[in-house]
Amino acid sequence: MTFVPRPDDIYIVSYPRSGTTWLQMILYQLVGNGDFDFTHISEVVPFFERSLRAGHNLNCLNSPRLFKTHYPYARLPKQGRYIYVQRDGRDVLLSYFCFYRSHLGYVGSFDQFFERFLRGQVGYGSWFNHVARWRQHAAHTNCLWLCYEDLVQDLRPCLSKIADFCGQSIPAQRYATTIERCSFEFMKEHEDRFDHTTAVLRELGLSYGKFIRKGQVGTWRDQLTAEQNARFQNNVRFTSELGAS
Ligand code: PPS
Repeated sequence: MTFVPRPDDIYIVSYPRSGTTWLQMILYQLVGNGDFDFTHISEVVPFFERSLRAGHNLNCLNSPRLFKTHYPYARLPKQGRYIYVQRDGRDVLLSYFCFYRSHLGYVGSFDQFFERFLRGQVGYGSWFNHVARWRQHAAHTNCLWLCYEDLVQDLRPCLSKIADFCGQSIPAQRYATTIERCSFEFMKEHEDRFDHTTAVLRELGLSYGKFIRKGQVGTWRDQLTAEQNARFQNNVRFTSELGAS
């Protein structure tokens, strides 16, 4: 099935573990249908690359279509709008490590994962390059750049930005419902609608409930050594000086 892009498509873009699922829920509640009847969020906001690989027909969805993706800009259709969510890479690193352990059977230590992450030898490659490459498009009128930390600090103004970007005027009640349903507590309570693997993990008798984990800013401080932090920051500087490779 060939995917036919539309100018009003909205892509929620991020490096993994940056708040993508949160944005899926925010977009669906704020500018999408806004119900809570779905079994899994991907039914209403599909994971773009996974759906294409599975041969799903995305052409039958109503406009404006909402998609989640971790793709770089080069791999996405050039029609549409992009909402990029960036998160402090050190929190991404820790969250990704926990995800690798809980969901992908990773048995290595944090220190080993740290080295892989710095080398970009994880799913979707280098965080440093992903952010730097997307940054080159941040000023385009069809791109909205959001920071996870701003969403955590005060969601309401971020919702207005999103509504403006999507060209929609939102009734006050919608804002209230969105804030309630997108809280960490609400999403944690309904985690099986956001994590595909909950049911499988439960059946296998394995621990579950680790997809929506802490939802906090700065938890990397409990994990990274001063030396690891310095190396991470050096990589950030190096990538921005060189430009994304
Ligand atoms: S994935 O696997 O790539 O789809 O992960 P992603 O959704 O991008 O990121 C997962 C992290 O987002 C946190 N999260 C939230 N934070 C605050 N509020 C809400 N409502 C929320 N929902 C999800 C989730 O807990 C993961 O971060 P960590 O640091 O692991 O807790």
